[in-house]
Amino acid sequence: MATIGFIKQKGGVGCSTLAFATATEYTRATWDVLVADLDTKQTTCFKRQVRRANRDFEPHINVQVFPTVDQAIRQADKYDLTILDTAPHATRATAQVAEVADLLIIPTGLALDDLEPTVKLAHELRKNGISQDKIAVAFCRTSGSEREYLEAKEYIEEAGYYHLDGQMHEKPAFRIASDLGRSPTESQYKGPREQAIQLVQSIIDRFNQIAG
Ligand SMILES: Nc1ncnc2c1ncn2[C@@H]1O[C@H](COP(=O)(O)OP(=O)(O)O)[C@@H](O)[C@H]1O
Ligand SMILES: [Mg+2]
Repeated sequence: MATIGFIKQKGGVGCSTLAFATATEYTRATWDVLVADLDTKQTTCFKRQVRRANRDFEPHINVQVFPTVDQAIRQADKYDLTILDTAPHATRATAQVAEVADLLIIPTGLALDDLEPTVKLAHELRKNGISQDKIAVAFCRTSGSEREYLEAKEYIEEAGYYHLDGQMHEKPAFRIASDLGRSPTESQYKGPREQAIQLVQSIIDRFNQIAG
């Protein structure tokens, strides 16, 4: 049983988008993947899969909504990989996901308003006994400014955390993909698609490093 958790403090940072992208790439690589959508208010991953199914877009991504982490974890044994997508500010669910996941992805923007809560969340996890190695920060919805990106990487490194390679810029292409039920890695626009593929590949590489 392998699990990757996607957690965050703030909503709208691109967490579900990255979770769906990761699920898509593992599914394409013929893993049997479950996406446990734990955000019962938004059900972002679930809705994306419904749009995908309505367009007969392959492969089918197995997304199910679970009100609790326990219920999701009870299913996890049946799959090669379970991806847990949490709601923002879901303190208890986040702690439970952090406990069970092999790898924890915290997506963040580049502004201090994003970086500070990201590091605060990571510190809280460590206080609760979560290993630092399990935590990986992903840069999402970024401006495209190289300087801002470098400063954000430094900020995360100085705080003692691992960050993934690459980033997803804030781009209409990612919303278009979402509207079509696609993963950002399936965007019809080459630049954004390659960014998403690089970021997901970095998740896969990190997963192989720490859980493989
Ligand atoms: N890199 C991006 N560029 C543009 N829009 C994005 C990007 N990432 C996500 N979005 C859009 O922003 C909204 C919130 O993204 P979502 O993945 O649901 O975030 P979260 O799960 O963190 O709340 C969605 O409409 C999504 O399509
Ligand atoms: Mg979400």
